[in-house]
Amino acid sequence: MTAPSKPDVDTLCRQLEEIQSEAAGAIAAAETVSALDDVRARHLAKRGPIQAVMKMMGNLSAEERPIVGAAANRVRDAITAALSERRGLLARAELAAQLEAETIDITLPGEERSVGSTHPLTRTMNEVTRIFTALGFSVATGPEIEDDWHNFEALNIPPDHPARDMHDTLYLEGSDLLLRTHTSPVQIRAMQSQQPPVAIICPGKVFRHDQVDQTHSPMFHQVEGLLVDRGVTFGHLKGVLEEFIHAFFGPEIPVRFRPSFFPFTEPSAEVDMLLKTRRSVGGQVVEVEEWCEILGCGMVDPAVFEAVGYDPEKWTGFAFGMGVERLAMIRHGITDIRTFFENDIRFLTQL
Ligand code: DAH
Repeated sequence: MTAPSKPDVDTLCRQLEEIQSEAAGAIAAAETVSALDDVRARHLAKRGPIQAVMKMMGNLSAEERPIVGAAANRVRDAITAALSERRGLLARAELAAQLEAETIDITLPGEERSVGSTHPLTRTMNEVTRIFTALGFSVATGPEIEDDWHNFEALNIPPDHPARDMHDTLYLEGSDLLLRTHTSPVQIRAMQSQQPPVAIICPGKVFRHDQVDQTHSPMFHQVEGLLVDRGVTFGHLKGVLEEFIHAFFGPEIPVRFRPSFFPFTEPSAEVDMLLKTRRSVGGQVVEVEEWCEILGCGMVDPAVFEAVGYDPEKWTGFAFGMGVERLAMIRHGITDIRTFFENDIRFLTQL
């Protein structure tokens, strides 16, 4: 039996070169960093091909061994260098591809997100409230479902009173209850729950059995005001309301008080302010001035004080009430009340 022939130096060195060129081919063919890791594992492993060649140095002389050893080191270094060069290249290419894929085209229109805002009526009520609270009034509230006594009787509007015709009331079937037709019942509730002095405003919803048209809505908003103290005069009322109108509409606006009638106040007045509006006259648009009614007011009727148990000999007071839609319509030049309740975003965002 002949011992298997052991390879000589040249054979071993050739094998090493083959390993190197095979590795070079695999490195060049690797298209990803992870494919390159496989190449490294295959060619530079502890029990890999280079190691296998080294094991076959058995019959080489002491002079020949370092030659093969040095060749193996060169091959290992060359493969390591080729791997790291290719790795750098692939890593840069992968990064470039990723950046390309994640590129943001800043010329594309963005996704629009609309920002919410408060409804113009809420804003109007908030502003009215802010002006009156700065004057020392506090905010009171009451129920939207009322009884006849608070909504009418205590306000000096008995069942057969003609003023009831003005308020087309929505009643709750089979009960004494109704949807409040004005915010005035809050006056009554406020006086029932506290002793004078009283200085309140009440912003809120009111309801009437009205056909919807350009100026009517079955639900609208009012702000009620009430001040009760000793020695309150019509002069105080005028001062407070003029202050309000000038704060809300502008300091220069002329204001007039016109005698009127409300069952719960005596004397009563309606307040107008002079507005500039545009009118078409004979085909020409001209600016005209017009008195425009914006609120009702008066000195609290003694009958109302009696209804809540205040002594009318001792206490005096004034009250006022105004429509929030009307204030907002004048301020923004809106001619149709329905636009407030249609929730058309194009209308709401204009104001
Ligand atoms: N309550 C009245 C209405 O709805 C408005 C009003 C007028 C309220 C005069 C008042 C006032 O407090 O004094 O038509």
